[in-house]
Amino acid sequence: MEPIAEILYTEEEIRKRVQELAAQISKDYQDKNLLLVGILKGSFIFLADLCRQIAFPCKIDFVAVSSYGMRAESSGVVRIIMDTRESLEQKDVLIVDDIYDRGLTLNYLKENFLTRRPASVKICALLKKELSQEVKVKIDYLGFKVPNKFIVGYGLDFAEEFRNLKYIASLKDEYIKEKMK
Ligand code: PRP
Repeated sequence: MEPIAEILYTEEEIRKRVQELAAQISKDYQDKNLLLVGILKGSFIFLADLCRQIAFPCKIDFVAVSSYGMRAESSGVVRIIMDTRESLEQKDVLIVDDIYDRGLTLNYLKENFLTRRPASVKICALLKKELSQEVKVKIDYLGFKVPNKFIVGYGLDFAEEFRNLKYIASLKDEYIKEKMK
């Protein structure tokens, strides 16, 4: 069965938007101590493209988190399973993620990072789901809005597949149902 329902953003559209975000970030952080922190795994392609468009050398690190509870539940708990190697102290931390969905991950990480004496903590998310999020988090740099469908590609997966698509797409409901059987 063809899994893709609709291509939402093409490779070219993504490239252009990532360039725009990087230009804004380069301007805002030119005199700062920028540390980009990508959230694994979903952000790896976005971060790789974004950092290469930033106009000056900057530090890069990663965290991995695990969400407890079913995705459909509202009481998900987020836990860091791999922390940054860099200290965040005195750094201007920019959290980079692929998607702001329910908001649990970004909210948790921002609050957690703020306790580590950083100079500042902001968020850059490539995508945001159109429907209102359970947890409101300020997204300082946003790429695109996407419909409340299952989104894959450019780092985003369904059951660990589709991360390597060059575009961002929605999956067919029938395909998801078939795979969940
Ligand atoms: C996804 C995505 C975000 C998070 C967003 O990660 O990459 O980090 O969920 O969801 P939230 O706003 O509801 O917290 P996932 O747990 O699927 O892991 P992955 O990045 O390794 O695919």
